Amino acid sequence: MTNDKKSPSDTFTIIDNATGKSFDLPVIHGTTGPRVVDIRKFYADTGCFTYDPGFTSTGSCESKVTFIDGDKGILLHRGYPIEQLAENSSFLEVAYLLLFGNLPDQAQMKQFDHDITYHSMLNEQILRFYSGFRRDAHPMAISCGIVGALSAFYHDSLDFTDDFQRIVAETRLIAKMPTIVANAYKYSIGQPFTYPRNDLDYAANFLQMMFSVPCETYTVNPVLARAMNRILILHADHEQNASTSTVRLAGSSGANPFACIAAGIASLWGPSHGGANEAVLNMLMQIGSKDRVPEFVERAKDKDDPFRLMGFGHRVYKNFDPRAKIMEKTCHEVLDDLGIHNEPLLQIAMELERIALQDDYFIEKKLYPNVDFYSGIIFRAMGIPTSMFTALFALARTTGWVAQWLEMITDPEMKIGRPRQLYTGATQRDYVPIGKR
Ligand code: SDX
Repeated sequence: MTNDKKSPSDTFTIIDNATGKSFDLPVIHGTTGPRVVDIRKFYADTGCFTYDPGFTSTGSCESKVTFIDGDKGILLHRGYPIEQLAENSSFLEVAYLLLFGNLPDQAQMKQFDHDITYHSMLNEQILRFYSGFRRDAHPMAISCGIVGALSAFYHDSLDFTDDFQRIVAETRLIAKMPTIVANAYKYSIGQPFTYPRNDLDYAANFLQMMFSVPCETYTVNPVLARAMNRILILHADHEQNASTSTVRLAGSSGANPFACIAAGIASLWGPSHGGANEAVLNMLMQIGSKDRVPEFVERAKDKDDPFRLMGFGHRVYKNFDPRAKIMEKTCHEVLDDLGIHNEPLLQIAMELERIALQDDYFIEKKLYPNVDFYSGIIFRAMGIPTSMFTALFALARTTGWVAQWLEMITDPEMKIGRPRQLYTGATQRDYVPIGKR
């Protein structure tokens, strides 16, 4: 990555009161966002580590892919606002934007669409991997296993230092994730695997692979396809979140792209991260009715109660998650189109949002609905089982993971990630034979 954007125009001067020494730390300006204090030489100059578990104040990398202004509720992909992309774009067009930096022209879009479409089938040998899983295995366990196993199969696209192999691996991952995820669902319900159809776009093809059966012709509902396209766009990328950081750290060691994406799937699974959409649905069902919402809001505020409002809060957004607003609008559109009125879980969710946003606890802590709060209600209305929700998140985020991984491995400054630590364990001591302990 070039340094042409980094022109230290001011510095931070710090004084080590233990020694009286002062140190000037260069400050780097991005194109937007907070100034960044460059501490790459901090340990060499001061003999001290910095300490930031959870990386609340630490930038792990330079990136041009996505920018979030958490205070203003702004999300940009290569400079384009998520609201405009969700309204006007297709998922594959956003994928092209994330991977290559600009919106494609018609010829570029046609070629990219062709390349992804014609890599969407899985080799029949890979379909045998599924039979090793229990039928009730969680779709994220299956997806993580299958994607990791791709590195045991595609030996012709493991060397990312080779341009052609890198492009093939990127294409295979983005193209095959819908097939891998849909097959995880088919496997769990004992239905035959479906095959992608080259006449459908990415979102419609996924729905077709999820719900078509060999016994009859399946027609994709265009409203649901449009909603799925928008939902995939909303989940495509999101700066250096836990799973993207996992992919980058795995990739920094030179691990192959399939192994890196499998690591991302594993990290996304957690209920504090991508697993929250599944947890939101389970929470809404646990609440059960609008009149029990106040009881659960009080529980979420109780420090002694581990209960949290799933789908609320965010490390970066201290305002509305812009994706949540678009998701809520999509939720109403889908339910209206399907003729589902007064969906009880939506009523509970809306009541929960209404009460929480008026409550001082949530206001003071700047806790707003995030991307996961409404998505599960839409997925459920589409007939997608709760256990599949996070796998859909992984399906969409694979494009962001690949784009971020690509940005890192093509950065000449790439280094293996190796954080330091604050050690508070035992200092050196001698071994004592068991008879003398
Ligand atoms: C995603 O990083 C990303 O970009 C992620 C993501 C993406 O696209 O990649 O946006 C996707 O993961 C969205 C988040 C989905 N997770 C959830 O909805 C789970 C519920 N939310 C929380 O667990 C929490 O808000 C996190 C994990 C999302 C953020 O946690 P932080 O930033 O570490 O904040 P915190 O846990 O320190 O909370 C700050 C305070 C705490 O109170 P105090 O200790 O200061 O008194 O807010 C409270 C928390 O107790 N709090 C909540 C709460 N979330 C935070 N209280 C009740 N309910 C909640 N949901």
